Amino acid sequence: MTNDFTSEFDFSALPVVPEGTFAAPLKRPVHLGEDWLEPKQREYDSGDDAIWDALFARQMEILPGRACSAFLAGLEALDLGRGGVPEFATLSEELNRLTGWSVVPVPMLIPDHVFFWHLANRRFPAGNFIRTKETFDYIQEPDVFHDVFGHVPLLTDPTFADYMQAYGRAGWKAMQRNRLKALGALYWYTVEFGLIREAGGLRICGAGILSGPREAVFSLEAQSPNRLMLSVDRAMRTDYVIDDLQPTYFVIESFEDLYRQTVERDFNEIYNTLPPGFTYANAAVIDTDHVLHRGTQEYHLRGGRGSDAPPV
Ligand code: PHE
Ligand code: FE
Repeated sequence: MTNDFTSEFDFSALPVVPEGTFAAPLKRPVHLGEDWLEPKQREYDSGDDAIWDALFARQMEILPGRACSAFLAGLEALDLGRGGVPEFATLSEELNRLTGWSVVPVPMLIPDHVFFWHLANRRFPAGNFIRTKETFDYIQEPDVFHDVFGHVPLLTDPTFADYMQAYGRAGWKAMQRNRLKALGALYWYTVEFGLIREAGGLRICGAGILSGPREAVFSLEAQSPNRLMLSVDRAMRTDYVIDDLQPTYFVIESFEDLYRQTVERDFNEIYNTLPPGFTYANAAVIDTDHVLHRGTQEYHLRGGRGSDAPPV
């Protein structure tokens, strides 16, 4: 069954947050409008550009043969390695020509409903700031490198581009139904930390993996994490960690498969039976899983980040 909630909402206008919905208590900076957009992208100095270039070079040592081909093709189509932090306006022109998406500058964090509204209108909100030399290896907040390098290339893929727009619309409905945590887990396990079957093996499609060197290797090659075929019902019920390598990765067959499992599925049926919290621990393997690799969880059992556990 395809969903039919388009008629309920005007996706061109900011949604009204339903009463009783928990909305992140973010204070809107005075210079921003209702849309939370920065009037223009920040100016970057040569130090910032050098950081972008170094991050780019580091990822390109690792990603060929590991990132999915649609991502690598997108990097090239958008010429993200031309040097320096990309200019959103230039980037958007090309992206718009390909799939009708654009990239818009926002502050570090924006409220959920504004995020969904931009996605629903094929605008990808990207952070302005870039990490420093001191935080080169690890930052928890998404910076412009994560947002643009990690997320934007796949928006050149027509099916993925449509999935992201549909996700924005779905976010709205999840807010009305108070199911944001579950829908957020789906985003986490697909858009941020998804793997995809390709060329007889596995490749990376999640932006959270693609924008860092460690997890790009760990997610595909380590014995620790579980690798399970994606089931939407399962992923939406699964807890996740935000500050360490993932104990579990979900694998999609293709972007068409992801589209079929999500956009073409009526989530009301899931929402009606979903318990309030997560059901499965982030390292769990359950009877109904289609297991590609059952992880040893050695990395996490040894203490994960903050210990000197090797990412094996
Ligand atoms: N089809 C889902 C629904 O009925 C919406 C959805 C689209 C969810 C894309 C996730 C991603 O709500
Ligand atoms: Fe992200």
